[in-house]
Amino acid sequence: MKKCRVFSGMRATGLLHLGHLAGALTNWVKLQEDHDCYYSIVDWHALMSNYADSAETGKFCKDVLLDWLSVGLDPEKSCIFIQSHVPQHAELFLALSMIAPLGWLYRNPTYKEQIENLQNKDLSTFAFLGYPVLMAADILLYRAEKVPVGEDQSAHMELSREIVRRFNHFFGGGKEILPEPQTLLTPTPKVPGTDGRKMSKSYGNSLYISESPESMWNKLRVMITDPAREKRTDKGDPDKCPVWDIHKVFNKDMGQRAEIDKGCRTAGIGCVDCKKMLNAHIASMMEPIHERRARYEKDPNTLDDILANGAKRAERTATETMSDIYPAMGLISRADRVV
Ligand code: TRP
Repeated sequence: MKKCRVFSGMRATGLLHLGHLAGALTNWVKLQEDHDCYYSIVDWHALMSNYADSAETGKFCKDVLLDWLSVGLDPEKSCIFIQSHVPQHAELFLALSMIAPLGWLYRNPTYKEQIENLQNKDLSTFAFLGYPVLMAADILLYRAEKVPVGEDQSAHMELSREIVRRFNHFFGGGKEILPEPQTLLTPTPKVPGTDGRKMSKSYGNSLYISESPESMWNKLRVMITDPAREKRTDKGDPDKCPVWDIHKVFNKDMGQRAEIDKGCRTAGIGCVDCKKMLNAHIASMMEPIHERRARYEKDPNTLDDILANGAKRAERTATETMSDIYPAMGLISRADRVV
């Protein structure tokens, strides 16, 4: 039986943290068992907002690759590649831009929000407005049926679907040239950073996947807890504690969790006791991940091979799709286009 095709991407903006692990990667690793998965490190998308700071984009791609491999994304099972290595992404982005209405792009809530929130960056560019068009191209190039993303990408996914419908309407003559992708909404558990705010590289509050056990503990040790619990003898409220939020994601020992909940509320245990238990769960979860990372880090040639093979495989599928798109749009497909 033909496996269902999945596509997803992550921007190349540096090391990945526990939020990425719980909100996306754990699910991606599961999906690769029974789906035909394409996972792309989207460096063009990273440049769309970080063009003024572009020097490290290549290094960030390698960071993401190592993080992906260390958590168990397997290049034998999934097609893993860098977006810019497959030029058809740019080609389909151009093709879709013929029919992408400016009104839809200006109305995109993510666009409006980012323009307002990231005042320190000039995001009034042609490319940034077209962010969802490139995202649609990513997905459609592989005719992906399912796209695992978090809630924050819902508006982008809706735009992708509207763009395909419009594309098929103009160029399909009643036929479906490209399929409408479905959103596979991934539940994104709350993983706050060490200061209690949303975990984010730009806040400097992240617990990274590649964090050494020592450094993980040093960060957890000083992590903010229920602010009302100032002294060891004060009773706490787990529902007001960001450390507890992380327990709920990574501590699978429900008996222990019940004990911590009670111990906190009665001041039976202190915050350091609670953090030590969380640290132990994270450390054992991370052990195989760090072992895998060390193995891959030893051999940069393997990493280059993985990227080269991924790009080759992705490009084969991409070329097939483009060879359908050219004639549909009334263009002459290159006679020597190798599919
Ligand atoms: N916009 C996505 C994000 O910020 C990344 C992305 C780019 C993506 N292209 C995609 C996700 C295609 C799914 C499918 O998380």
